[in-house]
Amino acid sequence: MKVTKAVIPAAGLGTRVLPATKSMPKEMLPIVDKPAIQYIVEEAVRSGIKDILIITNRGKGLIEDHFDRVPELEARLTSSGPEKEKILKEIIDIAHQANIYFVRQKETRGLGHAVNCARSFVGNEPFAVLYGDDVIMGEDPACAQLIRAYEEFGKGVLGVKQVSAEAITKYSSLKVENIHDNYFKCTDMIEKPSPDKIMSLYSILGRCILTPDIFDILDKTEPGAGGEIQLTDAMRTLARSVGMIAVEYTGKRYDMGNKLGIMQAQVEAALKHPEIGAEFKAYLKELCKEI
Ligand code: UTP
Repeated sequence: MKVTKAVIPAAGLGTRVLPATKSMPKEMLPIVDKPAIQYIVEEAVRSGIKDILIITNRGKGLIEDHFDRVPELEARLTSSGPEKEKILKEIIDIAHQANIYFVRQKETRGLGHAVNCARSFVGNEPFAVLYGDDVIMGEDPACAQLIRAYEEFGKGVLGVKQVSAEAITKYSSLKVENIHDNYFKCTDMIEKPSPDKIMSLYSILGRCILTPDIFDILDKTEPGAGGEIQLTDAMRTLARSVGMIAVEYTGKRYDMGNKLGIMQAQVEAALKHPEIGAEFKAYLKELCKEI
């Protein structure tokens, strides 16, 4: 079965980026001139996804507005002459990239709980999950790489990268065995392992393809690390029973959930930006002489 649906959980509190996220969702933080969540929606669309469900909560109306049409703004840009045509097209295209739906997670009970809010949207199909604060930039969309693995193996797929031994205690750690190239069999995993429980330095970073049986498992998953219903705990059941596939995807991942990740995304995207890239590079070079 083809993967045409995606879920973007964007209902976290973003406490690591306060006070910016007090009234603005971290998923709306701009990377130069586009909010993070737009990069994620674009990745999904480039991967062949047709229907996207964004999980939001109170105070995330800005996300809904961003993917809507704004007739007053469009009228102003239309009457502003040909130089505004490109931006007008961009503004309109945002609202038409895919069918975008929203549902609210009424209590912030963790990523697993957020994904479980997608049950009726997903129905009985495999679906992609793109974490709302992980932006991945690269030629070959990470989500598409995972979908190809799903098509080859017919099992749930995890997007992974190797992280440092210090970092892995804040993420998940997977038990993996190489199949070929960047494909691995995953038979176990643990969320936020203490140093003695680390299974490998491979961690799930931002993307996965899940089969609908995850929902019954999520219903039974008790709160885990941090008192939240962890998606990793539910995926562990799948990994231990039918097994999952881990793909070490290409592309650079930026963690928009922490301050350093946000700055790395900003600087690197600005350097490649067609409008300001050259000028920004000259500015950075000058600045580097002083630091
Ligand atoms: P995080 O754990 O990084 O998000 O979840 P958070 O809770 O916002 O982070 P901090 O620790 O308070 O800074 C990863 C993704 O899952 C979503 C978040 O929006 C983020 O995109 N999420 C998390 C939910 O949708 N609901 C939740 O209950 C928790």
